[in-house]
Amino acid sequence: MFALRPERPATIEVAVEGQPLRVPEGASAAVALLLAGIGRTTALSGAPRAPYCLMGVCFECLAEIDGVANQQACMVPARPGMRIRAQRGARRAGPA
Ligand code: FES
Repeated sequence: MFALRPERPATIEVAVEGQPLRVPEGASAAVALLLAGIGRTTALSGAPRAPYCLMGVCFECLAEIDGVANQQACMVPARPGMRIRAQRGARRAGPA
């Protein structure tokens, strides 16, 4: 039977910029960034960017995930407790 309003998906909790956020189970870290309204800035000009293609092509979703910078957030499934931060400028050298 067709349902106009499907069941709500289960959610998990992640932290975006240190703030708790519930996202649908199976969503990517990029979806968490979008739901939080958080984007990144480019390394050279500092221009704002946000996830765009959500399929690993555009690299606009670069983020720091669990302390590791330059992750393609759209290719990383969100997990409970995951810490997601927007990438700001160039990747830091050395330990996170
Ligand atoms: S949103 Fe395009 S590569 Fe992730």
